[in-house]
Amino acid sequence: MTLSPYQHAQAITMIDRAIAHAENGTTDWAPSVYRVPVEDYLSESRWREEMDATFMRLPLLLAFTCEMRKPGDYKTMKVLDVPILIVRGRDERVRAFINVCSHRGATLAGHSHGACARFVCPYHAWTFNDRGVLMGVADPAKFGDIDTAERNLKELPCEERAGMIFVGLTPGMTIDLDTYLGGMLAEVESFGLESWHMYHQNSLESANWKVTHDGYLETYHIPFLHAKTLSTPGANPSVIMVYEAFGEHAFGPHQRMSGSGRGGDVLAMRDIPKSEWTRDEHFHAVRTIFPNVSIAMSNTGGMISQLFPIAPDRCITIQNHLYPRPPETDREREDYDGRVDLLIRAVRDEDYKTGLAIQSGLKSGANRDFLFGRNEVGPQRWHASVDHYVEEARQGQAHAHRLAAE
Ligand code: FES
Repeated sequence: MTLSPYQHAQAITMIDRAIAHAENGTTDWAPSVYRVPVEDYLSESRWREEMDATFMRLPLLLAFTCEMRKPGDYKTMKVLDVPILIVRGRDERVRAFINVCSHRGATLAGHSHGACARFVCPYHAWTFNDRGVLMGVADPAKFGDIDTAERNLKELPCEERAGMIFVGLTPGMTIDLDTYLGGMLAEVESFGLESWHMYHQNSLESANWKVTHDGYLETYHIPFLHAKTLSTPGANPSVIMVYEAFGEHAFGPHQRMSGSGRGGDVLAMRDIPKSEWTRDEHFHAVRTIFPNVSIAMSNTGGMISQLFPIAPDRCITIQNHLYPRPPETDREREDYDGRVDLLIRAVRDEDYKTGLAIQSGLKSGANRDFLFGRNEVGPQRWHASVDHYVEEARQGQAHAHRLAAE
């Protein structure tokens, strides 16, 4: 499959940098080794602070266009303490609501995915339309007077772009995806994800969300931990990692990582004219949308992982295996199944198994901090992003307290 003109231009930039590194025995480097206190991976109060500063304040990629293409299609999920209902209305617009009935708080839609014109609460049958408007109260004459306009579902900010559906978990917060995602939008748009097919979804349990995320941001570990799965046999274990940051800040918070992580011979690209660096296999990259999404995908398909923290020491990952179209032959289905199986095994049995062991050793006192090398630019930037949003939230709270005191 060929790269789009945008992807081809990006490939030239990134491969040129990788070749220069290969020739010089270097890789992208941060100014220094970076330390994150182990306590930041253990502390419940720190975890809560991180959740409030990131998941509760930033747009989250919660769904995909291909999960809800038709009017009435909906999806439910719970992120932290927020039950969410995402629905495509008859006007084709996608909206999100807190999935809680406005009568006495029952869960409105109970299935993870479905399609319906109206939502009827299972408890007392209050009925809401696809815009969250309360349409009917059961036995209204006996219920008594209420202002039904005040009893619509609580709406959450929601926006659909490039085949992705973003939701803000705090009612009333604003979402500005152009500013927040910056160049990452063009990265994802280049795949044409809006017309893709969701082939398979599965969930995996892992350790603390930062332990889990650290592994998505470097390929330093690939030749070792994934020697029998993702790495190429006999590959040079000294990997090259080339990073690009996208977003409002110098550190991103979104990132693209490419290089030689899976063992491809970067120097061999010198023998191919740049005008011919146009094929999918010429440019592999892993993209990260802060705070919780990793996109390991090419134009022939791949996996988008959504990481959802559920406790200081636990995280659930939804793996979404997406392809440009459904398989059309048995051979194609076997190919898809093989790719899905490989990714599940590599992540569950290698990355997450290692992460759970890290988690169980955190309290041992063996280490006071986690070290991220100069070569681990991606994790360094990601932790800088977490710290930035935590600090921003602290300052916002301090400002609010000052205002309240005046
Ligand atoms: S709680 Fe939903 S109708 Fe009563």
